[in-house]
Amino acid sequence: MMLQSLALPALRRLDPERAHRLALDALSLGFGGRGRAGDDDGLGVTAMGLSFANPIGIAAGFDKDCRVPRALARAGFGFVEAGTVTPLPQAGNPRPRLFRLPEEGAVINRMGFNNQGADRFLARLRRLRAGPALAAPFGANLGINKEGADPPRDYAALVRAMAPLSDYLVINLSSPNTPGLRALQQVEPMCALLSAIADAAPSRPPLLVKLAPDLEDASLEAIVETVVAAGVDGLIVSNTLLARPPGLSGRHAGEAGGLSGRPLRARSTAMLAHVARLAAGRLVLVGCGGIETGADILDKIRAGADLVQLYTRFSIEGPALLPRLKRELRAAMRAAGHATLADARGAALAERTVR
Ligand SMILES: Cc1cc2nc3c(=O)[nH]c(=O)nc-3n(C[C@H](O)[C@H](O)[C@H](O)COP(=O)(O)O)c2cc1C
Repeated sequence: MMLQSLALPALRRLDPERAHRLALDALSLGFGGRGRAGDDDGLGVTAMGLSFANPIGIAAGFDKDCRVPRALARAGFGFVEAGTVTPLPQAGNPRPRLFRLPEEGAVINRMGFNNQGADRFLARLRRLRAGPALAAPFGANLGINKEGADPPRDYAALVRAMAPLSDYLVINLSSPNTPGLRALQQVEPMCALLSAIADAAPSRPPLLVKLAPDLEDASLEAIVETVVAAGVDGLIVSNTLLARPPGLSGRHAGEAGGLSGRPLRARSTAMLAHVARLAAGRLVLVGCGGIETGADILDKIRAGADLVQLYTRFSIEGPALLPRLKRELRAAMRAAGHATLADARGAALAERTVR
């Protein structure tokens, strides 16, 4: 922890992409600490047939190439999602493509699925699975290449390849940085995609679809019904925001790309609540967007989330974030009279049904 408090201010002065690479190196060298001590029965979650020691996952994009899942689990995350991985390696967009908005607790990125491709991801995942059991469920987040993609073919092939090695899979249809990707959230292309996956991988781990926060509320009902009908297990709400909330400040506020962190929180939680009402218990929901405190986590759970994920705040605060969030989450639960997260979810569900 002391090393962290010395290193983080230095990292924050570096170019953000370089700082990210150094953070991954530090994690792979074992400087991520051990944050599992804060877990107890009250924070445990059972969802998708999996047990989670706590509900806080690392969101996709932090470990795109599946380099540090073990270190992230040891640091105290309740689940670890690696990717987005695409079939072939690709360089992503030209730099600069990652911008901090420190006054806003936010980041804008237009990375463009830079990653080493499915073969190297799979090789690392096989090595990981050959070792001791991972302390947390593992998900692979899947995407398509910018050039030459055939979405039904490519997603189906990735699902087949990753299925035997993953506890759950995510179809990412919501990155703002791959042209045409978000159009796959429309009903027809989504149906084609999901039926190609069902044909290619009849037996697979739980499958989630990750949605964009820019979707119109009016389109959510059709999306929920489509994924339920296709046998999808759940939704991640949400990816980064293309729209810019009014008054966003800082010298990088005008950069193109997806906005994450604090300014995304209200929209992603409101969208989650809407999706939860539509899903009415038929889907597992992962709340993601702008989590900075334990109270933010409880808000997402009360809005209908089974689990939550975060990225931006972890990139700002490092592994010390996890013990703080768990402490604050337990305090927020106590203040609201919830002994367990299941109680919190149940109480909120009952309130929604009564209204
Ligand atoms: C630099 C950066 C890269 C990201 N890359 C991906 C990605 O490859 N795949 C994905 O599904 N989401 C990606 N995301 C989105 C995050 O997973 C998450 O949905 C979003 O940042 C909202 O959570 P947060 O406000 O806690 O950061 C990325 C986010 C950031 C900041």
